[in-house]
Amino acid sequence: MESENIISPELKGPEEERLENSLRPKTLSEYIGQDKVKESMKIYIEAAKKRGEPLDHVLLYGPPGLGKTTLSNIISNEMNSNIKITSGPAIEKPGDLAALLTNLSEFDVLFIDEIHRLNKSVEEILYPALEDYTLDIIIGKGPSARSIRLDLPKFTLIGATTKAGSLTTPLRDRFGIVSRLELYTNEQLELIVKRSATILGVNIDEDATKEIARRSRGTPRIANRILKRVRDYASVLGNGDITLKIAKIALNKLEIDDLGLDEIDRKILETIILKYNGGPVGLETIAVTIGEELETIEDVYEPYLIQIGFMSRTPRGRIAMSEAYAHLGIKNKEE
Ligand code: ADE
Repeated sequence: MESENIISPELKGPEEERLENSLRPKTLSEYIGQDKVKESMKIYIEAAKKRGEPLDHVLLYGPPGLGKTTLSNIISNEMNSNIKITSGPAIEKPGDLAALLTNLSEFDVLFIDEIHRLNKSVEEILYPALEDYTLDIIIGKGPSARSIRLDLPKFTLIGATTKAGSLTTPLRDRFGIVSRLELYTNEQLELIVKRSATILGVNIDEDATKEIARRSRGTPRIANRILKRVRDYASVLGNGDITLKIAKIALNKLEIDDLGLDEIDRKILETIILKYNGGPVGLETIAVTIGEELETIEDVYEPYLIQIGFMSRTPRGRIAMSEAYAHLGIKNKEE
């Protein structure tokens, strides 16, 4: 069966996009989980509003699917401002960023996803914009070139990244608020599944809710995608209500196992264990062996495999842990 790729954020059709948007909470009080981030954000937003100032620039980091974009939309909502959404790779030249910045209104939020992928020349014109809301642009070429300084509206940059470590120090230092999003607990994911089912107008029983939450690898985006697929099975195989039995059928068809691992997770672990003797083996070698992009393995798959103790990072490469052998039913020669 063609893998549907519920886990990777790369393959997202328009319907998936529409669904994700409809399920996104619009206010901080609707947003489930990330309690520490929510609490401090509430204070910062209230204080900024009291002072009549824009919110300080915010950097959100953590694995994909945890709600960085959602949170940014909520922040702009709570600040009663507008949001403009773009991404690091979409801003190719300094002129692209200059166009974005000069089109902002006072207190607007500029959201840059994958901010670690901004190129150097773009990043450099961002510094004065962040620091004192000015834009230095060079007009002309050669000896007659001159620089002019434009004032920008006071705005808030929200940068999102899966890799805070890849940000340059000068860029990271210009964010007043730096928040790390954590994987969700099963209980939080259950609340999210219930909320989403209500929005989708589908009945789901307690056991099915728990099953979906447990297999969503700490990630609301995955929980919501699974819910949508399970809803399809429920409407075709049953009366539309989601029961544990139907949830299990759908999850098995999606090749998502008991712990939420999919085919690619299993390929990664099998490569380390069977082809490289349990490791250590470099990420690049794993990527080439299974034909996946290195970045996808590193950002999407690895954080959860490490979190559940199936894989470990060592200076010489990745190694598989004994729990991974047990889960895959492979005998560990070391034991
Ligand atoms: N849907 C996706 N993420 C959510 C969250 N954190 N809270 C509520 N609903 C969500």
